[in-house]
Amino acid sequence: MEVYGITPHGGVLINRCLKGVLREAALERAQGLKKIVLNKVSISDLELIAIGAFSPLTGFMGKADYESVLKDMRLQNGVVWSLPITLPVDKETADSLKIGEEVALTEPGGRILGILELAEKYTYDKEWEARLVFKTTDTKHPGVARLFRQGDVYLAGDVWLLNRPSDIQFPELRHDPIETRRMFARRGWRRIVGFQTRNPIHRAHEYIQKAALEIADGLFIHPLVGETRPEDIPARVRIESYRAVLRDYYPPDRVILAVFPAAMRYAGPREAIFHAICRKNYGCTHFIVGRDHAGVGNYYGPYDAQRIFDEFEPEEIGITPLFFENAFYCRKCGAVVTRKTCPHDERYHIKLSGTQVREMLKRGEAPPPEFTRPEVARILIEGYKKEVSRKHSL
Ligand code: ADX
Repeated sequence: MEVYGITPHGGVLINRCLKGVLREAALERAQGLKKIVLNKVSISDLELIAIGAFSPLTGFMGKADYESVLKDMRLQNGVVWSLPITLPVDKETADSLKIGEEVALTEPGGRILGILELAEKYTYDKEWEARLVFKTTDTKHPGVARLFRQGDVYLAGDVWLLNRPSDIQFPELRHDPIETRRMFARRGWRRIVGFQTRNPIHRAHEYIQKAALEIADGLFIHPLVGETRPEDIPARVRIESYRAVLRDYYPPDRVILAVFPAAMRYAGPREAIFHAICRKNYGCTHFIVGRDHAGVGNYYGPYDAQRIFDEFEPEEIGITPLFFENAFYCRKCGAVVTRKTCPHDERYHIKLSGTQVREMLKRGEAPPPEFTRPEVARILIEGYKKEVSRKHSL
């Protein structure tokens, strides 16, 4: 199949999805293999490796790549890569497996998803990983908490995907990199700007997306729908909010909405590089990095995720980051602005934190229309009501 558009990271768009007779044979073989049950994060990593979103990775990282990524933000061969993509298991599971054997990877119900060609198993230092990846060992950080909870041994080796995960939300919005590249080419788009998000859309998002679209041919809105922390708004509600604004406020021939099935790491700057590289693999030429990209709490400075791009030569990243300052509504300007474009003082500015907005929504109150479009506010309030009734019925 022809790979359209920008060169994938590392040069080749990886495809580790088995099809047809090869898949049938592998599925039959997998029945007799030892099995590992994957958690949600590993399921999404497996799928993203297989469909080429994590190109040039062909499997879960071995020790040399893992250490090189932590220390230098590069794979051993020098290609830029900022986050470890690893398969953690407990020691007993690791001890039961032999290097060189194939292992079946399954979902919690036992359904086979793929095969791992086990090349290596190694123990690792969680504190070291936390410090380098998340810049903290504080277990209040959701990425650190996940790391400290997980198994003590990493399994490594190439993978093959035999079945897509069964728990798939928004099947109509799932497009693999090979497909999104074709979609961009079919529309004649040459400059495509990618947008990562784990939140419902607000006016600042809309502003930076549209500002970026002014210099691009198309906007690829790519909300992350893999595992997020419980405080984040559920993907279903976020997607609904996107659909509402896209219907009324965006030109349909300039925008594609698709989902990114990755898990959120909350690794701030390192995750910004990772998000950019993945979107390059999906075919984007540009990528938006705004204020506190992929951040959580106060672990990262608001623009650290932009500064980190200076640590690399532009061609090593291969996708152009578009940086935006903190955007907010100014009553005097009568528009969404940034410090770069607005001369007025704070009195005129409408700024709300994520926590403030969540509190308002919980009370059934809509945030001001200068902050959230009323169409979105309605969906969010409804979403909170459903969430509360779901929690009560548990
Ligand atoms: S993220 O974890 O996916 O980065 P979020 O969905 O809030 O979180 O942000 C999506 C993108 O919009 C990120 O690039 C982020 O930096 C940017 N962004 C969010 N809010 C603002 C804002 N008020 N001003 C400028 N950029 C913003």
